[in-house]
Amino acid sequence: MKVLLTGAAGFIGQHVADALRTAGHDVVGLDALLSQAHGTDAGLPPGVVRADVREPADLEPLLAGVDVVCHQAAMVGNGVDAQDLPDYATHNDYGTAVLLAAMARAGIGRLVLASSMVVYGDGRYTCERDGDVPPAPRREEDLRQGRYDPRCPFCDGPVTWHLIGEETVFAPRTSYAASKVAQEHYADAWCTLEAARCVALRYHNVYGPGMPADTPYSGVAAIFRSAIARGQAPAVFEDGRQVRDFVHVRDLALANLAAVERVGDHRQGVTPYNVCSGTTYTIGAMAERLSEAAGGKAPVVTGDYRAFDVRHVAASPQAARDGLGFNAQIGPDEGIAELATAPLRQR
Ligand code: UD1
Repeated sequence: MKVLLTGAAGFIGQHVADALRTAGHDVVGLDALLSQAHGTDAGLPPGVVRADVREPADLEPLLAGVDVVCHQAAMVGNGVDAQDLPDYATHNDYGTAVLLAAMARAGIGRLVLASSMVVYGDGRYTCERDGDVPPAPRREEDLRQGRYDPRCPFCDGPVTWHLIGEETVFAPRTSYAASKVAQEHYADAWCTLEAARCVALRYHNVYGPGMPADTPYSGVAAIFRSAIARGQAPAVFEDGRQVRDFVHVRDLALANLAAVERVGDHRQGVTPYNVCSGTTYTIGAMAERLSEAAGGKAPVVTGDYRAFDVRHVAASPQAARDGLGFNAQIGPDEGIAELATAPLRQR
C-alpha cells in the first residue's frame, strides 16, 4: 500500500516509517520539523519531505495515489503554559482539519490517527457507595498533605482505580489532551461526510530509543533518563505510587502497521483502541528499574505534584488484540532496561 505518514521525522514517526517499510509498504513521509521537538537545525531522515499539514498546497502532491494516511504529526506533551494553547490548536486541530479536507478532495477514505490516553483525563474509578464515578478534581489541600488519590465526587469517600476501556467518556485536562479529543471528533465528522474509516490509536506512555531528551514537552521516561545521564537522581513526584502503562515505541510502530493494514476492514466511523503493553507500572518502580539498569543514582521521591497530572491511568489491551491482532512484544522490564543505555534524541 502507499501510505502518507505525517510527523515522519519524529520519535514515533521514524519507528512507524521503519515498520511500514519493513512490511513492504511504500511510505511518503512529511514533517514540519517543529522547533519544539526538533530544535532549529534538524535534518530530515531519508524519504521525508519538509511540509506542513496546515498547508493544502503542501499536501496535494503528496496525497496522489495514497491508500491510507497515518497521521502522527502533532505538537505533543504538557506544554509550558497558556501561551502554548494557540500552537496546540493550530498544529493539532486546524492541521487535522486541513488534512481531512485534502483527503476528501483526493478521494482517500482511510485514516490512522495517533490519539492518546490523555483523552480520558482522570481514568476510571469506582466508589464502594456510589459505584462508577468520575473522580472529583484533586484538592490542593489534599495534595499538599500527601493525599494523592482522588475522592468520590458524591460522598467524598475513597475510590478504587480500574483499567480503562475504549468506551470511557472523554475528560481532557490539558491543552494537548483537548486537541487530541478534537482530532478524534474532526475525524468522526469526516467519516460521516465521506463514508470513511478511521482507527484512532490511543497511545499510553510511549518510550524507547530515540526519545527526545528532557524538554518541557517530554514525558516522564525521557525526563528520568536525561537526569540519570547528567548524574542526577530521577525526581519522582507525589508518592511514586501513581500507575501508568509504558508501551515500547517498536510495539507502537507494530500497532500502527496493523492499523494501516486493517483500517479498511473496520466499520465506517472512528474505531478507537488503547495501545498499551498490558503491564502496569508505578512511576516509582519505573524510576528504580531505570536507575538500576543504568547504574545511576537511586530515585528520590519528592512529594512534588502538578495540577494537571492525573493519578492512575492504565488500560486493557484486549480491544486492540481483537480488532488489530496487536500484542505488545516488549515488556516494560526489558524495555526500560534497554532505555537505560539507549541514545536519546538531542534537540
Ligand atoms: C504522557 C505524555 C502525554 C502522552 C501520554 C500517553 C508528556 C509530557 N506526557 O502523559 O503527552 O499523550 O503520556 O502517551 O509527554 N513525573 C515525575 N517526575 C517528573 C515528571 C513526571 O514523577 O519529573 C510523574 C508525573 O507526576 C505523572 C507521571 O510521572 O504522575 C507521568 O507524567 P508524564 O509522562 O508527564 O505524563 P502522562 O500524563 O503520563
